Amino acid sequence: MQAHVIADGVYGLHADIRTTDLFEGIWPIPHGVSLNSYIVRGEKIALIDLVRDWTDATEQIEKKLASIGIDFSAVDYLILNHLEPDHTGWLQEFRARNPKAEIISTAKGINLVKTFYKIDTGLRVVKDGETLDLGAGKVLAFVETPNIHWPETMVTWESRSGTLFSCDAFGSFGALGIFDTVPGNRIFDDEFTPEEHIFFEKESLRYYANIVSSFSGFVEKAVEKLANREIRCVAPSHGMIWRKEPGKIIERYLKYAAYAKGETEKEISIIWGSMYGNTKQGLDAVIRGIEEEGVPYTLHRIPDENISFVLADAYKSAGLVLAMPTYEYAVFPPMAYVLDIFRRKHINHKTVLRIGSWGWAGGAKKEYDAIVSNFKWSHLESVEWAGAPAAKEVDLLEERGREFARAIRAL
Ligand code: FEO
Repeated sequence: MQAHVIADGVYGLHADIRTTDLFEGIWPIPHGVSLNSYIVRGEKIALIDLVRDWTDATEQIEKKLASIGIDFSAVDYLILNHLEPDHTGWLQEFRARNPKAEIISTAKGINLVKTFYKIDTGLRVVKDGETLDLGAGKVLAFVETPNIHWPETMVTWESRSGTLFSCDAFGSFGALGIFDTVPGNRIFDDEFTPEEHIFFEKESLRYYANIVSSFSGFVEKAVEKLANREIRCVAPSHGMIWRKEPGKIIERYLKYAAYAKGETEKEISIIWGSMYGNTKQGLDAVIRGIEEEGVPYTLHRIPDENISFVLADAYKSAGLVLAMPTYEYAVFPPMAYVLDIFRRKHINHKTVLRIGSWGWAGGAKKEYDAIVSNFKWSHLESVEWAGAPAAKEVDLLEERGREFARAIRAL
């Protein structure tokens, strides 16, 4: 296992995680994820971000360090850009292996080192814009970028190579070795094929929608704040390292941030559940109408599909179709869960069509209206029916599908 050379004295170390565990205990990672750390070696050695002891992450990092003749005990500075345990979980073990290394973070970050990890010595707070001279021409600058993804977060910039160690910002799900029989040989953007980039782009959207989207305003502020630094390489702590087209991932993140403001794709995300096929029959009619208008759509059946994937498509789409039956006089429970996640993740600025079947009585509408009253959504008139849709309801649903698609196209 080899460390990857980013520039003279600047190395990427990464651990590919393949597990059935959920990321943050919520989000599935069927294609894995990478945890990236970095070394900058001047006269002093800085290790930027750690990993958690997840699958064999620490062994992977240790072997890559060994490939450049470095042991954890040789590290002079441990830079912690962000304290979430995927980047710090191994901190106490690191400290036991290396009692002398100075641990560097923002004031809020150092506070978390104390409270999370009960480490009180060898800590240094750095201020926004402060620098650390490692000698031999290697100077690190620290820039506070709060809320990407926690309030304590900063990024680190190495001036000579123009490398931005951005931690969660500009990251992605997907283990970097997912396409390789011998994982770990390709980590740079110019080493992946166009098809592989399409895969990682989807995984970056899902990562953004799941992890970062609530903090989109902070993403825009961070990019603005970094505008005076020459960024020749973006080195995040999840996903590939962008040395050929660093601007591409920054632009992509700005596009994702704009989705939160309603600058979305003219697409429709259809989220549906059906108990006995009656809501599905009505939805099929709506889909026929959408197809006639030629607006692209994606289909997500709940609860079969995990919310992680639903959220990614819904986040980028201008339109949502929510199709569900009334269940015990109220919203179909899997849809209630989806709406709760949408509320927590601030999925606003959507045009929405709700449809659904009911049995002995309606009732979904009342609860639904109460749930979405605080969302910044505009609705087309809902269609509801008893049991299976009658011919006139099918016609109405088809027409509503056409009308909805036209509304999305016209945005
Ligand atoms: Fe990758 Fe917010 O931690």
